[in-house]
Amino acid sequence: MNILVIGGSGGLGLALVQIFCELDATHRVIATYRSRQPDFSRTHLNWVQLDITQEAAIAKLFADCPDLTYIINAVGLLHSAAGNPEKTINKLDAGFFMDNIRVNTLSTLLLAKYARHALKHAQRSVFAALSARVGSISDNRLGGWYSYRCSKAALNMAVKTVSIEWQRTLPNCAVVALHPGTVTTELSAPFTGRTATQTHFTPDQSAQWLADIIMGLTPENTGQFIAFDGSQVDW
Ligand SMILES: NC(=O)c1ccc[n+]([C@@H]2O[C@H](COP(=O)([O-])OP(=O)(O)OC[C@H]3O[C@@H](n4cnc5c(N)ncnc54)[C@H](OP(=O)(O)O)[C@@H]3O)[C@@H](O)[C@H]2O)c1
Repeated sequence: MNILVIGGSGGLGLALVQIFCELDATHRVIATYRSRQPDFSRTHLNWVQLDITQEAAIAKLFADCPDLTYIINAVGLLHSAAGNPEKTINKLDAGFFMDNIRVNTLSTLLLAKYARHALKHAQRSVFAALSARVGSISDNRLGGWYSYRCSKAALNMAVKTVSIEWQRTLPNCAVVALHPGTVTTELSAPFTGRTATQTHFTPDQSAQWLADIIMGLTPENTGQFIAFDGSQVDW
């Protein structure tokens, strides 16, 4: 089995890489980082540098890839030096909005564009993107976080649309969006104090649930938005 984790340097991404590496030493794991290669190595793990906003780099990654069983996109942007999630529409910044779209939405579309041939084998496969419940339109009760919410809602549409196309062309592949819960990572760190009433999971805990879901998926699950506990999230 060959597994590709995009964003393997993130809180959830690295936890997923570690779980898949420990699963079976015969599995090959390929993981990407953008800025700094994590201090985690195994003989069957290959680290590759990748900026997900660079289409040519994504094309090159897949040109060098073997057949893949699982592709998991764990990159994400909620805050950066360029901006923070907006409490009000007055704070919307066009550049920060586009950064969110590039990382949270376009990344999965570009991965799908170049991943097809790596998934075109007879075995069951999974193409999964880490989304977020805040990208659910029907679940939006609090408002705010315009850039992140819109980029994740658009990601959900991207996942659903790819799943429909691939039902015809890659019928053994389950294409899904996953909600990991609120997880203590760099991405959530500035905001978890405000959600003290919510349960916060460690990256290891959430990643184990997500890995179990991924390993249990069949093509019948394609087009679903699934939370860490296995429940379906409304679009
Ligand atoms: N944490 C939560 O509570 C939570 C809740 C709901 C959904 N999620 C989703 O889960 C996913 C993982 O989040 P996380 O909490 O693990 O975040 P994280 O620890 O901040 O990790 C983010 C990852 O994205 C990568 N990344 C960002 N911009 C990139 C770019 N231009 N090119 C390549 N890689 C890039 C980072 O790479 P480098 O570190 O190498 O720069 C890092 O690997 C995200 O999609 C997030 O929206 C998280």
